[in-house]
Amino acid sequence: MIIGVPKEIKIGETRVSMTPSLCRRVTALGGKVLLEKSAGNSAGFTDAEYKSAGATLVVTAAKVWKNADVILKVKEPLPAEYHFLQQGQTLFTYLHLAAGPALAKELCRKNILGIAYETVEGSDGAFPLLKPMSQIAGRLSIQIGAYFLQSQHGGSGVLLGGIPGTMPGHVVVVGAGNSGAHAVQMAAGMGARVTVLDLDTRKLEALDTEYRGRIVTLMSNPANIEQAVADADLLIGAVLIPAAKAPIVVSGKMVAQMRPGSVICDIAIDQGGCIETIQATSHQKPTYQAHGVIHYAVPNMPALVGRTSTMGLTQATEPFIAMMVQKGVERALSEHKGLARGVNTRNGRITYDAVAKAVGFDS
Ligand SMILES: NC(=O)c1ccc[n+]([C@@H]2O[C@H](COP(=O)([O-])OP(=O)(O)OC[C@H]3O[C@@H](n4cnc5c(N)ncnc54)[C@H](O)[C@@H]3O)[C@@H](O)[C@H]2O)c1
Repeated sequence: MIIGVPKEIKIGETRVSMTPSLCRRVTALGGKVLLEKSAGNSAGFTDAEYKSAGATLVVTAAKVWKNADVILKVKEPLPAEYHFLQQGQTLFTYLHLAAGPALAKELCRKNILGIAYETVEGSDGAFPLLKPMSQIAGRLSIQIGAYFLQSQHGGSGVLLGGIPGTMPGHVVVVGAGNSGAHAVQMAAGMGARVTVLDLDTRKLEALDTEYRGRIVTLMSNPANIEQAVADADLLIGAVLIPAAKAPIVVSGKMVAQMRPGSVICDIAIDQGGCIETIQATSHQKPTYQAHGVIHYAVPNMPALVGRTSTMGLTQATEPFIAMMVQKGVERALSEHKGLARGVNTRNGRITYDAVAKAVGFDS
């Protein structure tokens, strides 16, 4: 099996889908790795390291896409990459098709076997390939929020931890899953006041037990969200309905009630965003203002810490990649139900119900 590793081209992207260590494992299992030159540079991995791990390096992305059985990526293919997709090829990457109907159409048109990292399931029904990036995005959301709250960045000038004798900043986190829980951890660690909302009482109970009264947990409903958001210095959107378009949980009216210079970081933007006033931004221009509130909605936040993110991602993908190399893609899919849950497109059709519903077609 030839695994192709193209260089990521999304704005500001620094991750790579394979480390030299993973490359060594793949080649030891009998697979071949075709890697675009300098693909690992921005994550701190040199071509020489890949070479000595057994990779064949090629100069152009086109050569990688043309000759690989399985394309291994980090981010979904961008329109500039659509023409590289080969009929019937396997693509293993984050796809987020609920927010990308054009890509969904393209994958169907080219009969791509599209296996989405974000819907691969572990034996516990959780999402092991989404988890590490969500943890990173959750942790980053607080330091990003703290940065944009600074006066010279247009923020309200609130220091999240405050100092003795002053009120600390208020961080409101909607969604207490992987990203939300890690945002809570960072915000509480900085000394902010923290309110977290979720629909799942077990998640709230776990956080309540962990922080022993140090944070406020609230059931997610419009009244509680409205009250919390109106007093938020930093609002984090961290909800997920697996593979579906994110639900809008914070209305434009609620955003309008926030104090000027407050900050919103909508982590869920890769699934369309959970805040009514949100639009995707990029690392090049990460924020804009609406209702006097700074909005941050970069869909590839982990790229800010490409080294940690690449290590976190590949340690999660490695068992699945090794399985595909050892057994072949079809056998791996038939023997591992969790990997099979990752299949979003196959034989010209969308095979994942929530994705088909979100994009409005299944073939
Ligand atoms: N922007 C980025 O760079 C980036 C990076 C990683 C992950 N993400 C995205 O972050 C989002 C969250 O991922 P996660 O791994 O934390 O998901 P998760 O499944 O671990 O947690 C999501 C939580 O949202 C809760 N939820 C659902 N509907 C809700 C509602 N109406 N109100 C309150 N809570 C609600 C769920 O109960 C769950 O606890 C996903 O869209 C994911 O793709 C984005």
